[in-house]
Amino acid sequence: MTSDVTIGVCYYPEHWPEAMWADDAKRMRAAGISRVRIGEFAWSRFEPDPGHLDLDWLGRAIDTLHAQGLGVILGTPTATPPKWLVDKMPDMLAVGDDGRVRGFGSRRHYCFSHAGYRRECARIVRALAERFGKHPGVVAWQTDNEYGCHNTVRSYSESAKLGFRHWLKARYGTVQALNEAWGNVFWSMEYRSFDEIDLPTGAVTETSPPHRVDFDRYSSDQVREFNRVQTEIIRALSPGRDIMHNFMTFHVDFDHYDAMEDMDVATWDSYPLGSLDVFPGEAAHKAAYARTGDPDMQAFHHDLYRGTGRGRFGIMEQQPGPVNWASYNTDAAPGLVRLWGMEGFAHGAEMVSYFRWRQAPFAQEQFHAALNRPDNAPDRAYFEVRELSRDLAALGALGAAAPAKVAIVHSYEAHWFLREQPQGRNFSYIEQVFSLYRALRRLGLDIDIVGPEAPLSGYALVLLPSTPYVPPRLAASLDAFEGTLLVMPRSGSRTASHRIPDNLAPGPLAAKLGIKVTRVESFRSYSAVPVLYDNQQAWFDRWREFVEGEAVVVAQTGDGQAALTRKDRAWYLAGFPDAGFLDRLVARLAGEAGIETQALPRGLRSRRRGAHRYFFNYGPEPVDVSDFAGGAFVLGSAALGVGGVAVTREER
Ligand code: GAL
Repeated sequence: MTSDVTIGVCYYPEHWPEAMWADDAKRMRAAGISRVRIGEFAWSRFEPDPGHLDLDWLGRAIDTLHAQGLGVILGTPTATPPKWLVDKMPDMLAVGDDGRVRGFGSRRHYCFSHAGYRRECARIVRALAERFGKHPGVVAWQTDNEYGCHNTVRSYSESAKLGFRHWLKARYGTVQALNEAWGNVFWSMEYRSFDEIDLPTGAVTETSPPHRVDFDRYSSDQVREFNRVQTEIIRALSPGRDIMHNFMTFHVDFDHYDAMEDMDVATWDSYPLGSLDVFPGEAAHKAAYARTGDPDMQAFHHDLYRGTGRGRFGIMEQQPGPVNWASYNTDAAPGLVRLWGMEGFAHGAEMVSYFRWRQAPFAQEQFHAALNRPDNAPDRAYFEVRELSRDLAALGALGAAAPAKVAIVHSYEAHWFLREQPQGRNFSYIEQVFSLYRALRRLGLDIDIVGPEAPLSGYALVLLPSTPYVPPRLAASLDAFEGTLLVMPRSGSRTASHRIPDNLAPGPLAAKLGIKVTRVESFRSYSAVPVLYDNQQAWFDRWREFVEGEAVVVAQTGDGQAALTRKDRAWYLAGFPDAGFLDRLVARLAGEAGIETQALPRGLRSRRRGAHRYFFNYGPEPVDVSDFAGGAFVLGSAALGVGGVAVTREER
């Protein structure tokens, strides 16, 4: 059976002499590559002078790739407007919250709210789609590049200010309603008209949280609207082609579920080593995985974006070796380029595409590794990609990602609420979601990460991370959920307009959980609150709540307060648990939910797809997987070296 997935690569024909293209395409094929993303930064070559399009070279590049049977993913170049355009329309530039214009000279230098820039984007996208939309070599589109990268979702420009006022008017109708909703009587912040409302920056001290949350919502909506300008044109002019965008690691500044409504496949850019370096984490952990990447971070995003793409997802950019943008840029241990690729497929990816074909000998990313060195000799990653393609050929069709019994409900809005009023510096929404995921995955479980609107009834266990505002629909589906439910602290603690609910937290979840939160505190980790759980010492390490109600108290803090409660199958954790506590708790909940678990060794992880179960060894030493594998090996064997991959055919 032939493979139902593809390997891709990111390629920049405009960076290389045309004489190299045919050989590049041939060697891509030889490595088992069948998808090539091009074009996403090439505006200055598509339109060297205002109105003078030069798309012939792009046509030749697409033809050359197509002649080798490669399918092109055509990127729209809107992340890099050229200098002449910026000079013509300088107010299209984004403005930082410090009031400084974010100028030309790198990328993403535009404001999502600027109508003139949107028109320019529509014009260039239309030109590309008219010319290449029905080209047989063009199989898909990528809009823009990494929305939000370099902290670009929120812009404090004049266009954003005017747009925000309109948006507020549409949301609240009258300024009196807005004053009421935001609580503007506080500190005499009342407005007499929408035209008086500025963006939430530049004030003496903290601006009002609902003002900021609404600006977060507004900014997120702009990303969707900006993107939709492009998707509408592409849909009309390039029928039958998938539209994708490449999302990022731990990026929560705009609502990806929302943006995905206009697209077909959610892809993401996976940089395991760069991300391990730049995201918070303990030094010992970073040291242990410096050359393999965190054992859960890639999987977390695979599961997140599989959900975002309603089942359809892929990796648009996979790290091939050292990157250039982390604080320190380690090399990947041998085998990891193959492992990361295979892990993406194990989680259901339909494509894994590597960044980039050849290392650039110029400009910002000279230190960024690729499949080929700047002298065009194949680098280690080239051979690992070729090996991966042989593995795929051996496995045949991979089938669909196995349905999970566990879900985590993820919400972008929850992050905005907690960011705008954290109340404790160390309280991070996304870090918490990831810690829940980690604890589950160490038990060998397959996990879904779903949006707040997703149906929950098919799951045996659902975890709700700290979600201050629980919208009515989510409240209803949690209420109706009959499986085991764990709700994390701070959930239901705010209304849509960021007020404390009349019945206090957990607001709409009060009846389901049988509790009321009467008081909260945050603290540094050295003031951690001891908890006795199952006769063992545990901790709340940054947050705890005082709760009362009819729910049964399952664990108590050292000072005799309820730490963990349950009402029927609905559990509430009245604090932020340390990792060991969380591990034990989720294992128990999985048990109660009737889900079989395995305690996997340190760096070993697994995932099921189709008839196969995949094993990945991220750990620092070899492991024997025979105790965990329930079938015959079809790839690799039970002895898994560092960076090793094995696949078994599950006996059902
Ligand atoms: C991504 C980006 C690429 C390239 C890459 C380097 O964030 O989409 O264009 O810059 O990082 O790792």
